[in-house]
Amino acid sequence: MHPDSSRIAVFGAGYIGLVAGACFAELGHQVAIRDIQSERIRLLKAGDVPIYEPGLGDMLARNKDRLTYTLDAAEAVAGADVAYICVDTPPTPSGDADLSRVWAVLASLTGATHLRAVVVKSTVPVGTGARIRRALDDSGLAHVAYASNPEFTAEGRALEDFMRPDRIVVGADNPAAARLVRSLHHGIPGPVETMDVASAEMVKMAANALLATKISFTNEIAALCEATGADITHVTRAIGQDHRLGPHFMNAGLGYGGSCFPKDSRALRALAANTGYSFQLLTAVIEVNELQPRRAVQRLKTALGTLHNRTIALLGMTFKPGTDDMREAPSTVIASRLLAEGATVTCWDPMARPQPDTHPWNLTDRRPTISEALTGADAAILVTEWPDLATTDWAAHRHLMNNHTPVLYDGRNHLDPATLHTAGYTYISTGRPT
Ligand code: UGA
Repeated sequence: MHPDSSRIAVFGAGYIGLVAGACFAELGHQVAIRDIQSERIRLLKAGDVPIYEPGLGDMLARNKDRLTYTLDAAEAVAGADVAYICVDTPPTPSGDADLSRVWAVLASLTGATHLRAVVVKSTVPVGTGARIRRALDDSGLAHVAYASNPEFTAEGRALEDFMRPDRIVVGADNPAAARLVRSLHHGIPGPVETMDVASAEMVKMAANALLATKISFTNEIAALCEATGADITHVTRAIGQDHRLGPHFMNAGLGYGGSCFPKDSRALRALAANTGYSFQLLTAVIEVNELQPRRAVQRLKTALGTLHNRTIALLGMTFKPGTDDMREAPSTVIASRLLAEGATVTCWDPMARPQPDTHPWNLTDRRPTISEALTGADAAILVTEWPDLATTDWAAHRHLMNNHTPVLYDGRNHLDPATLHTAGYTYISTGRPT
């Protein structure tokens, strides 16, 4: 065992916990992963991965001697130095984060007096660490340090983000706790930013809010480009060359989805409101984002004259390519709006988990290939920029559709306008001249 190796109990076998657990095992630590879903644990014990994340299966497999999986919290923490809380914190109706799973994990630690630290990786509102500190003190774990170690991994590239981060953020109770969390990351290059717990919690929320702001700002400029004849792709490329602004997160389109940006931006707005402060900029960011899929359906309707009794092929369902995750995917709003307008919806996605029991997907016709989704459709809307859609032979596919010059609405500016015009489509995209 590496001299800096520790025994880590990871709570939560979702996108955050499995990635953290696999990466800590890769770094030489002994890791016990605990989840409350028996199916997840069964799959993991059988060598399967319950989520899609590139490289994760291989990493879990090559570190299998350092990884165990359990449903039992006491078994996970037995002998552990550190408990890492990686459970989800879904939104409540008020927009605040639901911390019940975090509290449930903490309740299960009561007898774990040998622990040296409890670390939270889940995204939690600023101030949660202080509440957890009090709870630890009140439950006989006053000697256990507390630290916040927020994650900045994006789905689809999570292992790379974890192993080669821009920075590691550690907010800790005391210097020894900060040293312990830093030592868990031995071997990972990149700066470690050490600070108090509340600041670490704020870094996570503010970073996601600023990225969301960049996307909504770009989408508003794209709307102005449509109104004025400018081209958003030229505009953002040139803006991004200013090193103070940077080129990232300026792709105009259907807006941000996923389990993080929508939830975290609403949680930060709710946190502000709870302190009596109205975070107006963030409110606008959220409103702009909610408008994007609705605006796309409206533009499609204008192009077609009506959506009633039209068949629309919805291409891409996940909130972004490279994942099977459907949480807060713009496709769900689009499918729902199309159905409400009386359209028939066929859809295609290479990775999305089946959604047959949930509205609106129970009313759509999911097909296994792009060509089958397009067959008989009056128009198509590209929702997720999967690489397969860029290499599709659009000229050949046009003949499968129900219209001589079918409308192709490119919701992610993923395709080349000239190619699609030549292929015979009425091509519409975001912020680019038609
Ligand atoms: C995001 C952050 O990028 C991570 O740093 C963070 O750790 C994570 O949330 C989290 O809080 O857990 P993720 O949600 O996996 O990661 O996905 P992103 O790649 O950031 O994309 C989010 C959404 O924004 C997607 O729907 C994407 O299509 C959209 N987006 C992104 C745009 O519309 N335009 C852009 O220019 C970039």
